[in-house]
Amino acid sequence: MRIVCIGGGPAGLYFALLMKRRHPRHDITVVERNRAYDTFGWGVVFSDQVVEAISRADPESAADIADAFNHWDDIELLFKGTKQRTAGHGFIGIGRKRLLNILQRRCEELDVRLEFEREADSDLDFPDADLVIASDGVNSRIRERYAETFQPDIVVRPNRYIWFGTRKSFDAFTFDFRRTEHGWFQAHIYKFDADTSTFIVETTESTFLAHGLDKYDQAQSIAFAEKLFAPTLDGAPLMTNSRHLRGSAWLNFNHLVCGRWSHFNGRAHVVLMGDAAHTAHFAIGSGTKLALDDAIELAHQFDRFGHGAESIGAALQSYEQTRRIGVARVQNAARNAMEWFEVVGRRYADTMEPEQFFYSMLTRSQRISHENLRQRDPVWLEGFERWFARRAGVAVDDGAKPPPPMLTPWRVRGLELANRIMVSPMAMYSARDGLINDFHIAHLGARAMGGAALVFAEMTAPSPEARITPGCLGLWNDEQQAGWKRLAELVHAVGHAKLGVQLGHAGRKGATRLAWDGIDQPLDSGGWPLISASSLPYLPNSQVPREMTRAQMDDVRDAFVAAARRAAEAGVDWLELHAAHGYLLSSFLSPLTNARADEYGGSHGNRARYPLELFRALRAVWPSDRPMSVRLSCHDWTEGGNTPDDALIFARMFKDAGADVIDCSSGQVSKAERPVYGRLFQTPFADRIRNEAGVGAIAVGAISEADHANSIVAAGRADLCAIARPHLADPAWTIHEATRIGAPLVPWPRPYASARGQYEAAFARAAAPERA
Ligand SMILES: Cc1cc2nc3c(=O)[nH]c(=O)nc-3n(C[C@H](O)[C@H](O)[C@H](O)COP(=O)(O)OP(=O)(O)OC[C@H]3O[C@@H](n4cnc5c(N)ncnc54)[C@H](O)[C@@H]3O)c2cc1C
Ligand SMILES: Cc1cc2nc3c(=O)[nH]c(=O)nc-3n(C[C@H](O)[C@H](O)[C@H](O)COP(=O)(O)O)c2cc1C
Repeated sequence: MRIVCIGGGPAGLYFALLMKRRHPRHDITVVERNRAYDTFGWGVVFSDQVVEAISRADPESAADIADAFNHWDDIELLFKGTKQRTAGHGFIGIGRKRLLNILQRRCEELDVRLEFEREADSDLDFPDADLVIASDGVNSRIRERYAETFQPDIVVRPNRYIWFGTRKSFDAFTFDFRRTEHGWFQAHIYKFDADTSTFIVETTESTFLAHGLDKYDQAQSIAFAEKLFAPTLDGAPLMTNSRHLRGSAWLNFNHLVCGRWSHFNGRAHVVLMGDAAHTAHFAIGSGTKLALDDAIELAHQFDRFGHGAESIGAALQSYEQTRRIGVARVQNAARNAMEWFEVVGRRYADTMEPEQFFYSMLTRSQRISHENLRQRDPVWLEGFERWFARRAGVAVDDGAKPPPPMLTPWRVRGLELANRIMVSPMAMYSARDGLINDFHIAHLGARAMGGAALVFAEMTAPSPEARITPGCLGLWNDEQQAGWKRLAELVHAVGHAKLGVQLGHAGRKGATRLAWDGIDQPLDSGGWPLISASSLPYLPNSQVPREMTRAQMDDVRDAFVAAARRAAEAGVDWLELHAAHGYLLSSFLSPLTNARADEYGGSHGNRARYPLELFRALRAVWPSDRPMSVRLSCHDWTEGGNTPDDALIFARMFKDAGADVIDCSSGQVSKAERPVYGRLFQTPFADRIRNEAGVGAIAVGAISEADHANSIVAAGRADLCAIARPHLADPAWTIHEATRIGAPLVPWPRPYASARGQYEAAFARAAAPERA
């Protein structure tokens, strides 16, 4: 085969040498516009796994690379005058130039033709080629030429960064955060040879502009950064080797995803590789790894399908299919990490204490969880857990094992919760006339014995016509109130759990069948007239609601107030107002369901006017020592609907009205929604609201393990974790998860005590080989 690699970066060079090594009869040329042994950039970091992969692929170059490595294990954070360090992270640094020189030399050894100082205009410059590798970097000319096939989607990210080197040697991957009068700057610093380190400085666009850095040339930018990071640089100057960049040299990162990676130009197959195909932000330092992995995979595919030109089509197809999965995983992690650095100033840096800030930074990609941190550095993690527990008011002696974050108490107003787990409200459709019956007592009683600190009953209606279905709970008469009193006494008697009521009005989603008879489907008979913010049905066959009048607003508000009074008298500990999921109050908040032309529609203030009025009326009668939360749909997941930006605005309004906590759910507002599900998929909403609005937050949705809950609470992404479906499968979810992670600190109901020892011993036995 005749192969041409356009671009002699890590991708092009490595693919060329791997192919030549496997099949010396290939005719391979690498075309590079720069001079031989000349390149931009400083050092790159790898993880230990990359080293294993390249050792298998080409032991010769891997040995040379290994000689040039600088290995270190620690991450250090410099923040608000503190210095914190954790170990066990396994990084390797190498100079970009050094790496490329090794690959170039290896190419020469293997008889790969290297053509330097040649600028390729197009793949058609190589009419004899069978295969053209577009390894020409993020600004790939070849990719742009066939943009219709490759469908590149480039997002220019908002932060600015500049890439320096310095002769100071750092013995840890160091992150240095500095606040100026205009905002935060962060430096990502890592050593890549005996005496040189990469020093990337990053900030937001607004801070960049406020300092006038857009008008600075490179020398002025260096002077600025040297002054800002002087305590860390210790007199070492910063150096640039990007003199080829004109102007300020502060860049924006381009996040790139391509719809396809290969194309047939009529004569040759053209395939994207490395940064030309996808980028991963330097926040997790994986761009070079992806480039090398691409090269390894494509070479492997030729081993599979054969090294003749007739195999190219099949090899390229299989390469793309296989690599897409690994690339997407790294890009997701890199995106999370990148976004963390984009919001760090306004969201975390000003308010968080250094210990929690460090934890948040270490888990920024959401690929590293609490238990991963324990594996890497158990001593550091235990120290952090001790700090976290003490901060939560738990007396832990030095040396004593602290509770994991999810098992620390949390106080809000006069209520102390024993831990951070709550049973999320879940409609059971099992009531008659809105009354609590034996089912609810058994169902909620079991969950109250299961270790969660807060047990919510389902959405409860303040009037018969506020119900979703005829099977929903209500709280509008004395008999219902007596049921709640019985429930509260039961919950309080069997363990440490507190009881929550979620008051809600179904709005346009009311008068529907029990879930198992057709969720959201209108009742065939016995329905009642519906009201909503606007006269818009939920489904095409739903009853059309009437637009709520002011008189109806008064009636509904008064019914909520009466129900709240009854709940307080019954001994309920926590009141949540349901303003999510497309029900009545949600229909005011979302522009998709609120088309009103009066003062209750239009702007955020108008859309929130009635929900806030109702909330304030509840807060006025709900005992001042008991907490209140509001459940919001933080994302409508469809065009024209509310987004997390809107949710933040509403969260601030409810906070000002006296809400202690925002329960951060999403969706169910419109049938056109396209939610992006996944592990912890709604947690970013809680994170944002908690840390930008400065209000308590509940994370909910696909939180299914102790490790998830510990990571969320420890990083300050939420104060509580609401667990719904896992609690249907396992009433004692908290007890079981605590035991599973070796922290059996949750009290069992006394009558069950005889089972405890056996249960814990079984877990200890099952875990023993893993730990050994
Ligand atoms: C600030 C910063 C820090 C980074 N840190 C890390 C890190 O720590 N770890 C890590 O793994 N990655 C890191 N990266 C990413 C890394 O540099 C890239 O992901 C990696 O170099 C991609 O390799 P590549 O071969 O695909 O592209 P490149 O390395 O960009 O190589 C492309 C080559 O093609 C040449 N070329 C382009 N067009 C033409 C043409 N028309 N004709 C001839 N030649 C052409 C270019 O001169 C260049 O040499 C970082 C990137 C940045 C911006
Ligand atoms: C059967 C069922 C009923 C639900 N009923 C309610 C409800 O009454 N009020 C509410 O706010 N959310 C309700 N939800 C949503 C849950 O509280 C929770 O937000 C959602 O299930 C995601 O959490 P999970 O992934 O832990 O299940 C219900 C969910 C389920 C599965």
